[in-house]
Amino acid sequence: MAYKINDNVTWVGKIDWELRKFHGEELSAHKGSSYNSYLIRGGEKTVLIDTVWKPFAKEFVANLKKEIDLKEIDYIVANHAESDHSGALPELLEEIPGTPVYCTKTGVKSLSGHYHQDWNFHPVKTGDKLDLGGKELIFVEAKMLHWPDSMFCYLTGDNILFPNDAFGQHFATELFYNDLVDQCDLYGEAIKYYANILTPFSKLVAAKIKEVVDLNLPVDMICPSHGVIWRDDPLQIVNKYAEWADDYQENQVTVIYDTMWDGTRRAAEAIAAGIKEANDSITIKLYNAARADTNDIVTEIFKSKGIVVGSPTINKGVLHSIASLMEMVKGLQFKNKKGAAFGCYGWSGESVKLVNEMLDKAGFELINQDGLKILWNPNEEAIEACSAYGKEIGSALA
Ligand code: FEO
Repeated sequence: MAYKINDNVTWVGKIDWELRKFHGEELSAHKGSSYNSYLIRGGEKTVLIDTVWKPFAKEFVANLKKEIDLKEIDYIVANHAESDHSGALPELLEEIPGTPVYCTKTGVKSLSGHYHQDWNFHPVKTGDKLDLGGKELIFVEAKMLHWPDSMFCYLTGDNILFPNDAFGQHFATELFYNDLVDQCDLYGEAIKYYANILTPFSKLVAAKIKEVVDLNLPVDMICPSHGVIWRDDPLQIVNKYAEWADDYQENQVTVIYDTMWDGTRRAAEAIAAGIKEANDSITIKLYNAARADTNDIVTEIFKSKGIVVGSPTINKGVLHSIASLMEMVKGLQFKNKKGAAFGCYGWSGESVKLVNEMLDKAGFELINQDGLKILWNPNEEAIEACSAYGKEIGSALA
């Protein structure tokens, strides 16, 4: 399948309707994804930007052959070495060996590390240009957005930014453009992508946005490497990224727990009721970490000004769903958020202290240094204590 974006640019990627997990099993993709590859006929020269994930390499090359005689491809640009974009390079370069591959200096290392091939690399840096005869491709390094090798490029004349993963979404659609798809779906996938992948690099996102905006280049379209193309008010996603990169939070608190015999769940609901009593305007969401999708919870944490995390004690520790979630949360380095811990126990009762330590290590400001420990299954008195704890949390987040 190929899809003409305009007279010069054709989408030649792959829509992956089946994808449900990405980065191994690490990231959920409820709506599939796409691996966007773009063929630019720039006047005298033809350039291919990125390819697709390896399982689709043969299909990609076969489809590309229907669109163009591969020998007519003058240059390949590898904006990013991760295999969802570079996975078809070995298949393609077997057909057209020696074709110059433009990428960052770090991209040479990453691509070599992945494929161990002696390709015709042309390392580029910010400001370098590729003359296509009439149009130019301008390169902008985007280190750590989200890999050291990441790069954007900009096509003059058509005013198109190709930012690779940035501004992308795991969102399979044959509608291609941002104005044609369901806006809630699009927003949901875009913010989930940012929350789960780009949060640790927010400072760099903000700086890169400023750098690109300061270039004062007209932008008619943003063509990311996943999901839809931004053509209707394309800078709306850039503005959203600026907002998200600025220690983003909404007026929300997320209560996350796991439970064995329902005690910690009942405590969670009593805490939520207490929060509501003290802070009626805040949005409260509850998730059982063992049952809800981890990446959806992470997105809710991203939107929250505070989180309340609960686990009963098991084997002097916490339930593994909470440990696993908190490990992910620690890596994402959320800023400017508060946290509180709670949980039931029968005898040793270490879980609350451990959750507090996890929150602290993940950069959350603790609302209560002790947290709330509930002995056995909560009785009426314990439920009242949960409600009071909720009120304390609600007030702290007002
Ligand atoms: Fe879409 Fe970082 O790969």
